[in-house]
Amino acid sequence: MGKVLRLGFLVSGRGSNLQAILQACRDGRLKATPAVVISNNTDSGALALARDAALPAYHLSSKTHPDPKILDRTITAILQKHEVDLVVLAGYMKKLGPITLRAYRNRILNIHPSLLPNHGGQGMYGMAVHEAVLRAGEKETGATVHLVDGEYDTGRILAQRRVPVRRDDTAAALAARVLETEHELYVEVLRGIIDGEIKLPVEDMVD
Ligand code: GRF
Repeated sequence: MGKVLRLGFLVSGRGSNLQAILQACRDGRLKATPAVVISNNTDSGALALARDAALPAYHLSSKTHPDPKILDRTITAILQKHEVDLVVLAGYMKKLGPITLRAYRNRILNIHPSLLPNHGGQGMYGMAVHEAVLRAGEKETGATVHLVDGEYDTGRILAQRRVPVRRDDTAAALAARVLETEHELYVEVLRGIIDGEIKLPVEDMVD
């Protein structure tokens, strides 16, 4: 039913969420087409993964485009060139610029490894998140998929999944447990959007 949604990915690092989503597209759990991968980091595992998967892959950063406005415009232009419907941030470490935010308003998703609004915001990424969860003595943590606005981790929450914190947990053990949940949750949220179970504010996106 309707058109197959085209996904554009923005990545910076390892790429395990990208991999989980690509796999779900391949094995038919997700009726979506991965259209393009953009990384701000030439060394990212995610970029290598995209190239291995023969996806169009771009390195766009302040190195390739020192003027932030031109970088912002170029990111939007590449997404539009590949006819992206939905932008998936999968470990993207940069803030998006106003041009991209406007062009894809309410069509940009991010995943964060905690139960937002707890343990989010600037500087809260990687192990810092899990260390903060342990320091706070939380009994549970989890993963959150949310819409992206101009700030870090503040957009409307689309879905969350809880993960227990164990008494003897280390940040690394917790990170690994949350990451598994992230992979499931991201695919599930995308499926929900495609199937119309999760409504994004832009209603004309899926025909
Ligand atoms: C994930 O923990 C995600 O929640 C956060 O960045 C990390 C990316 O990991 N936004 P990966 O590159 O997908 O493996």
